[in-house]
Amino acid sequence: MKAKTKFIILTISVMVVIAACSQIMYIPTNEDAQRAGESLETLNQGKMTYEKNCAKCHGLFSPERFTQQKWAKIMPVMQKKAKISNEEASLISKYVNARAKQN
Ligand code: HEC
Repeated sequence: MKAKTKFIILTISVMVVIAACSQIMYIPTNEDAQRAGESLETLNQGKMTYEKNCAKCHGLFSPERFTQQKWAKIMPVMQKKAKISNEEASLISKYVNARAKQN
């Protein structure tokens, strides 16, 4: 195999692995803020808090993956694991709830 072909295959493999591991979290829009009844600022803070505290043991779960009811059960458990304050947990909840799965 030519060196150039090997390089191309390696590059593609690396990109596939990176894409599979990094969930891209949505960026809050005005519509999200309106629907959630929260400010855009709050949702953005929630996103930052989520990314900072919740990717240490596993990848970030997409907000769309669970319903609000399910998130409400998960958050208290993960709050303890992440050792974050009630305020931080509440910000994360607002962020995930704004785009949680519909029932
Ligand atoms: C200290 C490690 C650790 C940290 C930090 C952590 N988690 Fe987890 N998380 C786990 C483990 C272990 C599981 C799988 C076992 C379980 O469900 O308890 C899990 C599972 C999950 C699940 C899947 C639950 C399901 O029912 O499928 C979600 C969603 C989640 N975590 C969200 C979060 C959020 C949000 C944060 C940040 C507040 C967070 N995690 C921080 C360890 C962690």
